[in-house]
Amino acid sequence: MTQFANNLAVVYSDLSLLAASEILAARLAVPLLELHSLSKDSQQDFYLCYRDDCLKLLDRQTLKKGGLIVEVDPRPGEQHSYPAPKKDLLAQAVGKKSKTIVDATTGWAQDSLAMFRMGYEMQCIERSPVMAALIEDGFQRLAQKDWVQTRQLQPPKLLVGNAIELLQQLSEAPDCIYVDPMFPAKRKKSALAKKAMTVLRDILGDDEDREDLFAAAWQATGKRVVVKSPDYAEPIAGKPSESYQGKLLRYDVYIK
Ligand SMILES: C[S@@+](CC[C@H](N)C(=O)[O-])C[C@H]1O[C@@H](n2cnc3c(N)ncnc32)[C@H](O)[C@@H]1O
Repeated sequence: MTQFANNLAVVYSDLSLLAASEILAARLAVPLLELHSLSKDSQQDFYLCYRDDCLKLLDRQTLKKGGLIVEVDPRPGEQHSYPAPKKDLLAQAVGKKSKTIVDATTGWAQDSLAMFRMGYEMQCIERSPVMAALIEDGFQRLAQKDWVQTRQLQPPKLLVGNAIELLQQLSEAPDCIYVDPMFPAKRKKSALAKKAMTVLRDILGDDEDREDLFAAAWQATGKRVVVKSPDYAEPIAGKPSESYQGKLLRYDVYIK
């Protein structure tokens, strides 16, 4: 986080967003800058900005336009009905009969939100305060969606901190703990699926403590731990009980 704090600032371009931007910059202990006063040689590579009614993560290319957000709408090809059918590899891995899931590595929350849309009861954990701010913004937008309001659904609860500690404090063991840590990259950047994940790696680095995270998840789960990993990586905790192979990734399932 320290290294990230030096590389990140909150920017604002609209005075009406100054107060919210000040609060965010203070919370993250990063500089607050005015967008139009940024010079070419400003120090940061990444910026957070309230724009288009979202909190966005920007890099130098997207400073004026674009940026990354926690996307709360269904992914391309996913059904818009609620609950969405439990038919993909993710649903098979977490178990169609599971009810409660803790996502210990929420990141851009795309897996959490896919599971939420399938009707699983989700709780989320994220240790990066920057990602946590982006997730909170996404979950606030989720709460405003018609399909969420008409069904009186509550967005997942977000716990901010290290899952290795927080998992030990859960009041009830969930049916499944889902773990998708950052593994060292093997493929060239251009082959990586999404810019969002490339940026996450650039700002946070690999999750070197993923084996400790697995151990904590194994202790805390009621029934199973699911580890999402790139297809080239060795299983994190020896031979899994089940494995679901996707295009470039794999879900290893460890059942108690
Ligand atoms: C590869 S990303 C997860 C992507 C996510 N599955 C998605 O759909 O967007 C890994 C995330 O897990 C977080 N993380 C890794 N280890 C963690 C830990 N021990 N506790 C909490 N968060 C952790 C990282 O900060 C990062 O944001």
